[in-house]
Amino acid sequence: MVTERLRRAQAQRAPRCGGRPTTIKSLATYVPPRVLTNADLEKLVDTNDEWILQRTGIRERHIVDPGVGTSDLGKEAAIKAIAKAGLTPDDIGFIVVGTVTPDMMFPSTACLVQTKIGAHHSWGFDLSAACSAFTYALTTASQMVATGAHDHALVVGADVMSSIIDYKDRATCVLFGDGAGAAVVSAASAKGDGAILDFEHEIDGSGGAALCMPAGGSLRPPSHETVDERLHYVKQDGHAVFKFAVRKTEEIARRVLDRNGLEPGDLDLFVSHQANRRIIMSASEKLGLEPDKVIINIERFGNTTAATIPLALNDAVCSGRLKSGDLVLLASVGAGFTVGAVLLRWGI
Ligand code: UT7
Repeated sequence: MVTERLRRAQAQRAPRCGGRPTTIKSLATYVPPRVLTNADLEKLVDTNDEWILQRTGIRERHIVDPGVGTSDLGKEAAIKAIAKAGLTPDDIGFIVVGTVTPDMMFPSTACLVQTKIGAHHSWGFDLSAACSAFTYALTTASQMVATGAHDHALVVGADVMSSIIDYKDRATCVLFGDGAGAAVVSAASAKGDGAILDFEHEIDGSGGAALCMPAGGSLRPPSHETVDERLHYVKQDGHAVFKFAVRKTEEIARRVLDRNGLEPGDLDLFVSHQANRRIIMSASEKLGLEPDKVIINIERFGNTTAATIPLALNDAVCSGRLKSGDLVLLASVGAGFTVGAVLLRWGI
């Protein structure tokens, strides 16, 4: 019934995921071993476990040791994902790395990951979409495969948020963690393989000031002054971002479902970006989704920016909540603002 409605809607509309069908062939994640708990943060700023847990849903997050960069986390996830897909790095034709914490301004983290994993036949680039990086990178990779340009593309969502967080600012330092996820996107070869069905994305630059890192780029290059003013750290208007995130998560989800003749209740799993437990709960309540259709794992990882969606997908698979054939909606809202949703049939 759901499949028939979906097939009819797809036949009627202009193809957005045109070309040959694509699918997520494998998924893997990596977080650095060191854990930063709420109790640890109580020693750094005026905060407490109860406030953090109630207001955000976070208990702990993983943090890199000095000398570890985003490409290192991305590499670990990528190697595992490629092996799980039954491929070798040389089978990958295209690499896209979603991140706001590249190892350095250039070369791109995609180049660093490419050489670290030994993917000798690929090209690629970084994609800056903050918390929507995974949905945008997945779409980009899917289009590369759909056109026939590549058979296998590697999507990496990775961030070392601890490198741009001010551990003197209690309003932001409790929220973020480090982590990486990687997926191999390939041509879907047979029925039942799963498929990336559709996407809806939008950007709204008028919200840029609500969540940003003001210095370190071309407008305000690093100087003694910018460092003294702590402008190389994340600044956030929490209320503005919260309200936008709840409204847009629901809106983008409804838009992609409508385009495909679906209702929220048709979904088997809703995987939202993990920024705040309350944002996910509010948006999913507005969508009328039962809690068992929503995955929330922010408790253990915090907001890992580009990595939250693959970390949540991975937990859903490991806990048996995501199975082959399930209809899944990914949704994200992030700095920019960036808004994204990807509808897919899980095939692993
Ligand atoms: O990934 C996408 C980007 N990020 C987001 O989506 C985050 C969106 N925003 C949020 O998640 C929430 O706005 C926050 C978690 C950042 C803040 O939660 P809130 O419920 O909006 O708290 P608030 O800013 O209204 O602050 C309430 C109180 C304030 O004290 P007063 O003025 O009521 O006395 C804050 O000073 O809580 C205080 N507060 C804290 N207290 C203990 C703020 N941060 C902390 C803290 N520990 N870490």
